[in-house]
Formats: sequence, structure tokens, C-alpha cells
Amino acid sequence: DLPPEVTIWEVGPRDGLQNEADTVPVDVKLEFLDRLANAGLTTLEATSFVHPKWVPQLADAEELLSRLDRRAGVRYPVLVPNARGLDRAVDAGIVDVAVFASATESFARRNLNSTYGDQFAMFEPVVARARDEGMAVRGYLSMCFGDPWEGVVDPDRVVAAGRRLLDAGCWQLSLGDTVGVATPGQVDRLVDAFAAAGVGVDALAVHFHDTYGQALSNTLAALRRGVSTVDSSAGGLGGCPYAESATGNLATEDLVWMLDGLGVQHGADLDALVITSTWMAEQLGRPSPSRVVSALAG
Ligand code: HMG
Ligand code: MG
Repeated sequence: DLPPEVTIWEVGPRDGLQNEADTVPVDVKLEFLDRLANAGLTTLEATSFVHPKWVPQLADAEELLSRLDRRAGVRYPVLVPNARGLDRAVDAGIVDVAVFASATESFARRNLNSTYGDQFAMFEPVVARARDEGMAVRGYLSMCFGDPWEGVVDPDRVVAAGRRLLDAGCWQLSLGDTVGVATPGQVDRLVDAFAAAGVGVDALAVHFHDTYGQALSNTLAALRRGVSTVDSSAGGLGGCPYAESATGNLATEDLVWMLDGLGVQHGADLDALVITSTWMAEQLGRPSPSRVVSALAG
């Protein structure tokens, strides 16, 4: 059965803009966040407190958050990889953070300069301290389906990695198809593998990239299994600078169109999203890859 309501976890300002060749001016990012809040989205992943040399596109995180008009009823989670990132989030008055692990060794090395095992040693004290600070901590898990260096990823490995993040104190686990290679049968198998390990759909979110055009199908598979938090990015912006061949996330507009058709509640205003993504495409100088944006844009 489909969930009656879905939480859209909008990652465009973070996952979308971290991958732009040219850094987007902070004024444009602020307007983007404002427009997304006006469009009714209530979870806006705003930026990352990662190493500025690793992700220069988000080096303006402090300025962005100090100037951001944080709306009542909107959450603004940020990514933090380590103690230094958490210090920065605390200083910025952030209450929602996310750590981000890899299910594979190759991507842990490339994305975190860590081994698979050491990444947990990095995250566990961060999660514990964030919780002591009263923060809610989400756990991302990357390369849950396929990895460009290691190929297909075994669900048992993914479940083992996911359990470590949940056991560390993350309230939710977002299953990432970082390079967008997953197909719906894999989604069914992974959600079932988590269930068999005692992790129900209430603890899961899905995070699909659309490289192979499967993001919406994969999302529907997850919804049918009962997952009710879906990550997406307005206009389909996105990708990971440390994952070869990763393209944009599932477009929020494509998700909203499908949810509307299914009668699943979500709270977003599709017209306002399309206008926002059309405006953003002008800022970036290229059209949105979202099918729904191109169909509806005037
Ligand atoms: P490192 O170079 O090993 O860091 O990077 P280190 O701990 O050795 O520290 C080196 C220096 O960096 C030190 O400074 C630290 O203070 C400083 P020094 O003492 O030499 O002057 N430093 C920092 N400065 C500011 N903020 C920080 C920070 N940390 C250390 N947070 C590190 C290790 C984890 C920091 C680095 O690899 C990193 O920042 N990685 C982040 C990569 C990233 O953001 N990737 C994209 C997000 S993940 C993603 O997109 C996937 C996702 O969407 C889900 C999916 O699709 O699957 C979430
Ligand atoms: Mg991503």
C-alpha cells in the first residue's frame, strides 16, 4: 500500500549546488531557499559543513546560514562529516544535521578520505555529540545499489552499514543511489533486507539520482513498500563531485507530479516549483533536466 502522505526532503540547495562547475553566488542560493520555502517545502537541506577545499561550491555555508531567513515550520538540515563540521554547525545554530557514510570501500576513500571501517569511527562521536546538543541526526548511506568502482553492491553489506548508522543514533537512514544505476527490483530487495534485519520503513528514506532514468520508478517501488520520506532536488539539479558519472537527483517536480496522480499528500505547490526551477535554470545558464519542468514551463 502507498503511504497517504510523503515528506519531500529537498536536497537541491546542497546536493544540487555542490556539483555546479561554477560556484553559485550566495544571493542566488538565498533566493532559491526562499522560493523553495514559498513553494511549501518544509525540509530544505541547505548546505554542508565539509572541507571547503573538497567542496568549494559550499564554502559559503557560514555566510549563507547567517543571512538565511529561517522560516517557522521549515527545517534546514546540513551535512557534517566530522567534529570540525559539527563545531561549525553548532556555531551556526543548526538543529538538524546529517552524517554521510558509504556502503563501499572505494567511495569511502574518495568521498571521505577514509576507509570503510574508519568512517564509522569518524561519525560515531559526531552523532553522539550532536545528540547531546539536542540535534536530530540523519544518516546517509551512499552506493546502496551499485558503485562505479565495485559494481553491484550486495544488500547484506548495505544493511550492515545502515545498522551501524542507526545504532550510532541516527533517527533516519537515507538510502543513496549515488550514481543512479539502481532498478526497482533492487529497491524491493533492499527494503526487504532491512525489514528482515529489524529495520522498518519508518526508519528509511530513499535518495535516487536519475542518471539512468530510473529514479521515479525506484521511488514508486519504495513507496509501495511503505517508505514515506523521499529525497529530491528542484529541477533535478545535482550529483556528487566525488562519484564519477553521477547526475542530478530525482527532480522534485517529477516526484510531485507522480504523487498528485497517485493521490499521495505532500504539501508542495507544483506551479511555484516549476517557476523556481525555471528561474534557477536561467541563473545556471542551462535548462532543467526535469521532464515535468520542461513540460509545464511556459
Ligand atoms: P581530510 O583532508 O582527510 O581532513 O578530509 P582532515 O581531517 O585530515 O583535516 C585536514 C584539514 O581540514 C584540517 O585543517 C581540518 O581542520 C580541516 P588543518 O589543521 O590542516 O588546517 N577540516 C575542515 N575544515 C572545515 N570543515 C570541515 C573540516 N574537516 C577537516 N568539516 C573530510 C576529510 C571528511 C573533511 C573531507 O573528505 C570532506 O570534506 N569530504 C566531504 C565530501 C563531500 O562533501 N561530498 C559530497 C557529499 S556526499 C554526497 O553527495 C552523497 C549523498 O548525496 C547521498 C548519495 O547520493 O549517495 C549524501
Ligand atoms: Mg546525492
